[in-house]
Amino acid sequence: MITDLMDKIISLCKRRGFVFPGSEIYGGLANSWDYGPLGQLLKQNIKAAWWKFFVQERADMVPLDTAIIMNPRVWEASGHLQNFSDELVECRKCHHRFRADHLLEAKRLEPGYNKETISMLSEVVCPDCGGTLTEPKQFNLMFKTFLGVTEDTAATAYLRPETAGGMFVNFKNIQAATRRRLPFGIAQIGKNFRNEITPGNFIFRTREFEIGEFEYFIKPGDWEAVFEMWLSEIKRWWHDVMQINMDNLVWHEIPAGERAHYSKRTVDIEYKFPFGVKELHGIAYRTDFDLSRHQAVSGADLTYTDPDTNEKFLPHVIEPTFGIERMFLVALLEAYHEETAPTAVEGESEARIVLKLPKALAPYKVAVLPLSKKEELSVPARALAAELRKHWMIDYDETQSIGKRYRRQDEIGTPYCITVDFDTLNDQKVTVRDRDTMVQERVAIAELAAYLQGKL
Ligand code: GAP
Repeated sequence: MITDLMDKIISLCKRRGFVFPGSEIYGGLANSWDYGPLGQLLKQNIKAAWWKFFVQERADMVPLDTAIIMNPRVWEASGHLQNFSDELVECRKCHHRFRADHLLEAKRLEPGYNKETISMLSEVVCPDCGGTLTEPKQFNLMFKTFLGVTEDTAATAYLRPETAGGMFVNFKNIQAATRRRLPFGIAQIGKNFRNEITPGNFIFRTREFEIGEFEYFIKPGDWEAVFEMWLSEIKRWWHDVMQINMDNLVWHEIPAGERAHYSKRTVDIEYKFPFGVKELHGIAYRTDFDLSRHQAVSGADLTYTDPDTNEKFLPHVIEPTFGIERMFLVALLEAYHEETAPTAVEGESEARIVLKLPKALAPYKVAVLPLSKKEELSVPARALAAELRKHWMIDYDETQSIGKRYRRQDEIGTPYCITVDFDTLNDQKVTVRDRDTMVQERVAIAELAAYLQGKL
C-alpha cells in the first residue's frame, strides 16, 4: 500500500538521486533499490551519527566488522537453520504468495474484528482476488550459496541474516584483545540478507538491507537496570540525534507468549508509517542463550571470569538492533515539508518542498551559489567552495535563477546556501541563507568557516 506521502517521497528520491529502482535499465529487480549520490550521503551520515552516539561517545562499547559468509555451524547454533522461517500461504486462484502472520495482522485491523470472530487463517481469503488460501508452509529465509566449485552439501554456506552472530563468535577474542570487563558492548553495522516472502513498501522491507546492532554483555543480575538504561538511550537517540516527533513512536512491550522462548523482555519500537504502525527496530534481553548455544556447538569455552570474585559464568546479553534503511525512511518522512515561500518579487510567494533534516544528516551541508555565471563571480565562488570542501560536503550550482537554486537546495535539505554577489568583490562578504527560517545574513569570507562550524 503506497500513500500520497510515500508517493511524494519515492518521487523525490528518484528525481533528486536519493534512491533509484535497482537494475532499472534491465527492467528493474522487484524490491531492490540503489542509493544514489544523495542517498549514499544520507545513509552514511545516519551510520556515522549512530557510531558516534552508540560507540564513540561511550567508554563501554567497541566496534567490529565481521564476514557476511560465516561457518554454517554458526547458523546451526543460533537456530537460524532450523527456525528462521515464516509461514507462507498461496492463493489457489491467483497464486500470489503471502506471509500468514501479515494476513492475520491485516484482518485484525479491520473494523468489527474481535478475537472471537477471527483467529484462524482458514477464515482469511486472498486480499488480491478473494480466492481461498493453501495450508501454511514453513519457508526458510536464509539465502543459500556454495563455496568453491562444487555445489554439494559440504560446500553449502549462507549469507548472514543478521550481524549478531559475528559479535557472539568473537566475544572471547574481543574480550582478550581489549581486556574489557563487564559490562561492555560490541557494535557492528553491515549488510544482511533475508529471502523475504513479501518485501515491499519501498525500502521498508527488502531482501538485502543493513542492520546496526550491538550485543551488550552483562552480569545476569543486572539485566533489568541495563535494559532501562538502553531504553532511555534509545529515546535520546530518536529525540536528540534523529530529532523526530516522538509522538510518532510506539513502544510495544512484547507479551511473554509472543517473545522468543529465551527472551525475558523485548520491546519493539514501532513507527506510525503512512502505510501503518510497523516495527522500526527493537531491543531484547536474550539471557545467555546465544553464548551458551555457541559454546555447546563449537566446544569453545566462552565463559567470563570475574576479576574480583574469580567466578566463571556466561555473560547475559541485551541487544538493541536498528534497521538502517528504516531509519533512512523515517528521516525522510519526518523531514518532508511543503510550505509557501516568498519569491524575489515583492509580495509574491510560491510553494517550496523542504527537507528539514537534522544538520548532521543533511547530504550537503552548504551550497555555494554565485549570483551570476560570469567569471567575475564564478572564479571566487569556486575557490570558496574548494576551501569549504576541506570541512564539509559542498554543492556548487550556478545555473538558473537564484530562487530556483534555493528551491533545489531546500528540496535536498541543504542547511545553508551561500551567495556570492557583486558586492562580495568589494566587501569580501557573502550572504548566508538558513534553510528553515530563510533568514539571510552577511558574513565576512575570512570568518565563514568558523561561522559555519558554529552552526553545523
Ligand atoms: N539480531 C536481531 C535482529 O536481527 P530483527 O528484528 O530480525 O532482529 C533487526 O532485525 C532490524 O532490521 C529490524 O528491527 C528492522 O529494523 C530491520 N529489518 C529486518 N528485516 C528487514 C527487511 N527485510 N528489510 C529492511 N529492514 C529489515
